[in-house]
Amino acid sequence: MPVEWADWGPELLVTIDRHSGAGLRSQLEDQMRDAVRSGRLAGGERLPSSRELARALGLSRGLVQDCYAQLQAEGYLTSRPGSATRVAAGAVVRPEAPSPASRPARPRHAVADFRHGVPDLRLAPREDWAWAVREVCRTAPNSAFDYGDPIGEPRLREVLAAYLRRVRAVAATADQVVVCTGMAQALGLVLRVLAGDGVDTLAFEDPGAGVSTTEQAVAAGMAAVPVPVDADGLDVAALDRTPARAVLVTPAHQWPTGVVLAGHRRQELIAWARRRDGVIVEDDYDAEFRYDRDPVGSLQGLAPDRVVSLGTVSKSLAPALRLGWVIAPERLLGALAGGKRVADRGSPSLDQLALLTLIESGRYDRHLRRARAEYAARRKTLLATLAAHAPALRVTGLAAGFHAVLHLPAGADEDELVRQAGRRGVGLYGMARMHRAAPPAGPRLVLGFGDTPKPAIEAGIAAIADLLQEG
Ligand SMILES: Cc1ncc(COP(=O)(O)O)c(C=O)c1O
Repeated sequence: MPVEWADWGPELLVTIDRHSGAGLRSQLEDQMRDAVRSGRLAGGERLPSSRELARALGLSRGLVQDCYAQLQAEGYLTSRPGSATRVAAGAVVRPEAPSPASRPARPRHAVADFRHGVPDLRLAPREDWAWAVREVCRTAPNSAFDYGDPIGEPRLREVLAAYLRRVRAVAATADQVVVCTGMAQALGLVLRVLAGDGVDTLAFEDPGAGVSTTEQAVAAGMAAVPVPVDADGLDVAALDRTPARAVLVTPAHQWPTGVVLAGHRRQELIAWARRRDGVIVEDDYDAEFRYDRDPVGSLQGLAPDRVVSLGTVSKSLAPALRLGWVIAPERLLGALAGGKRVADRGSPSLDQLALLTLIESGRYDRHLRRARAEYAARRKTLLATLAAHAPALRVTGLAAGFHAVLHLPAGADEDELVRQAGRRGVGLYGMARMHRAAPPAGPRLVLGFGDTPKPAIEAGIAAIADLLQEG
């Protein structure tokens, strides 16, 4: 689809060289032909009026009209009486190169998609965010539009530290908070700092977010080794057998098994870090959504000198905001701040101020309460629907977040089940694919319900009920 520019549209970069000896009209025609052929101007895109372009280039309007008429005659442009001149559809011959970096389109699942990792995008607090941005634009001093502090807006860092002390039992002051572009950037920065400190191997949970972690480690110049996870979380004895001096963990709600790192394992892990002169990187990705009565505090609070904690609003508000943070021990702060400054001179200040405004106004908490109630209701629906259609199957990992693990009958073929469900319009995701080296502990599905409304949960499970019985 061509871009439909408002009003006159943006200016068109054409350079006329009055000393080149070439005619003005032929210069203009040549450059416009080139712009269409190269795809700089897309089929259907509107051009400036001849009056506008003539004024911008210091040419006579008649000359520009002649040029447009010539290019119309050649099939590059079209115009209808009373409407703007446009690039002719089909005039552009440049093939659309597929972008290797772009994400492949997600397959559509007509009945239900139990994809994981995303909150309900329908619940994104549009009104609150719009209000907060408007408040910031209305009230912030002019200096707020300058470059900000590369490690984040000071007041946001204060409020985040206070908030996380309150709800996550984090032990940190504002000085230890670095605001980042989501957890993805936070992890990248931390790994680079650790690599600069001589840490050459990162351990990560298996199953876990293996591919993205390995990519981040490699980008930081580190090796990455998987360490198995069992019913108590990361196997610290196995970690001890690796050469790693850093480990990435999801202690509050292991991704993707959903297990909580047991108390004794927490102590063992901290002891490992002290013995190894190591660092624990804690990914506290969905801590806002806990359903049991036994909230699990952040690991950082237990060993602030050994733990770097990463947080994000991707689950609590929306991934599109790209806002997250690092809480780091003092000895890493200088290098982290330097890395952040070099990376981007700081995350967008106005968005940071909008988040601050949301939190300080109480709207953030109100949104979380609503979202938590909705996810709790979906969790109940999922459990009830599974109990009705597949009562023999065990469901685990539901203490927090918005995904559950469904244990399939022994001998079930995860991949085949996923394929058959897909044919019935139900998106399912197997656990085996999230394993790196550790053998899967039986066939399991990771059922996300963050972006799956209650009716879809019911319809989706009903549609595959017979498949779930097969062992
Ligand atoms: C385990 C885990 N941690 C963190 C995140 C969030 O990352 P970000 O803040 O870059 O969106 C995700 C996103 O899916 C995730 O799966």
